Amino acid sequence: MSGALRFGVFEVFGPQVGGTVSWPHPLSDSIEFADPQHWVRLARLMDATGYDFLFFADGFGYPILGDDIAPAAVRSGINFSGYDPATLLPLLMAATDRLGFVVTATTGIDHPVQLARRFSTLDLVSNGRIGWNIVTGASQNAVAELFGHEALMPHDVRYALADEFVRLARAYWEDAWDDGALVADRATGVYADAARVHRTMFEGEHYRSRGYFGAPPTPQRTPVLFQAGTSPAGRAFAATHAECVFVQATSPAHTRRNTDDIRARAAAAGRPAPVVMVGLTAIVAETIERGEELAREFDALQDDDVVATLYAGNTGIDLRSLDPDRTLHQVLEAGGPVGQLGTSNIERFLGTPGSPAPTVREILDSLKGQGTRGFRLVGDAATVADGVERLADEAGVDGFLLEPVFGTRDVAAFGDAVLPILRERGRLPRREGATFRHRLLG
Ligand SMILES: Cc1cc2nc3c(=O)[nH]c(=O)nc-3n(C[C@H](O)[C@H](O)[C@H](O)COP(=O)(O)O)c2cc1C
Repeated sequence: MSGALRFGVFEVFGPQVGGTVSWPHPLSDSIEFADPQHWVRLARLMDATGYDFLFFADGFGYPILGDDIAPAAVRSGINFSGYDPATLLPLLMAATDRLGFVVTATTGIDHPVQLARRFSTLDLVSNGRIGWNIVTGASQNAVAELFGHEALMPHDVRYALADEFVRLARAYWEDAWDDGALVADRATGVYADAARVHRTMFEGEHYRSRGYFGAPPTPQRTPVLFQAGTSPAGRAFAATHAECVFVQATSPAHTRRNTDDIRARAAAAGRPAPVVMVGLTAIVAETIERGEELAREFDALQDDDVVATLYAGNTGIDLRSLDPDRTLHQVLEAGGPVGQLGTSNIERFLGTPGSPAPTVREILDSLKGQGTRGFRLVGDAATVADGVERLADEAGVDGFLLEPVFGTRDVAAFGDAVLPILRERGRLPRREGATFRHRLLG
């Protein structure tokens, strides 16, 4: 395969991406996250160097160990602390022309009508450059605690609820107003044509709605629908709704199995194959040696505490409470609910025919500097560009979300040095189209 590739940047409106620690490093500017101009500069840089979109992960959760927030989450800012990225976006939209924006929002927090109106407004303000990353939400134990819910909703029920949530939101975006229903004619004084504004009638198991959606259609109507979550339920959901899927990277071969599965499920549902993207940590420097030196400095900032905290936040499992010499199967054998927070980060360590499951000690070591990050490439621009092409072909992905280690420095290094090489090799054709959807999906 030698298709066109897409590139986004994965960020959080907080101190630290990827469940690793690097903000204290002198090259990183991530700790400036609370300065809105930090983001304006980043967005302008991305627009100028030709990235497709800026992606914000988000959520209300945080890692819990025992029955309280994990101490390292607060001390080091791992998957804890930050602001609401959707509210930041209009500032960045006004500062850019072409760049798309994708923001994560969890189903089941707001009512769909609240979310639908917010995304209609973002689509309007950006002139058709918004995407929604649909998640059922990480760290749902913390979310349940924070919102005062009695119990954690089971993993697959959350996906059933998400399905209804998205169907209802789409009904507002796609069916509530016909094209041309907004008349706004001064001469006649007619604002909207009542015959072309429709009542939404939705009766679901989790949601009901019988009313009118006030937001007139925007350039894309529906935001570009992204999805992140790679469990079987997550992949089934992706095949039904997603136009772009953000998968958790494991090995290239294992990732390929997941991407093939998502495409097969979409085909079975009679839908076009979604664009599949994966995370990428790229440490690009003037020389291979300098890149490797930076990677070593990054790895030296990680420890077992950081790794275990992040892993607990994603899975509910405290790796340090387990026998380090046995595999994760010890958790399954112990019985009880497992995987109710998320399964992707459990399943990837259970082994497959021909590749035995790692021990807990090996998991702790392999996640050091890895966190929830995707693939890692280190070196000079040409080496990293080669790696990008190789990974795209081996893992069967259509693009990458760059997960910065040193903040703006990494986005600039990749944008200034690697993207031009890929462009020259024909992997980044200029995509025309009036909206983010047209440019991303063709
Ligand atoms: C690559 C990737 C990115 C994710 N990003 C977010 C996020 O930004 N916010 C969030 O609450 N959950 C995020 N999640 C969590 C899941 O989407 C999901 O809400 C839950 O953990 C179930 O995932 P599963 O289908 O993999 O079991 C992400 C998951 C993956 C695999």
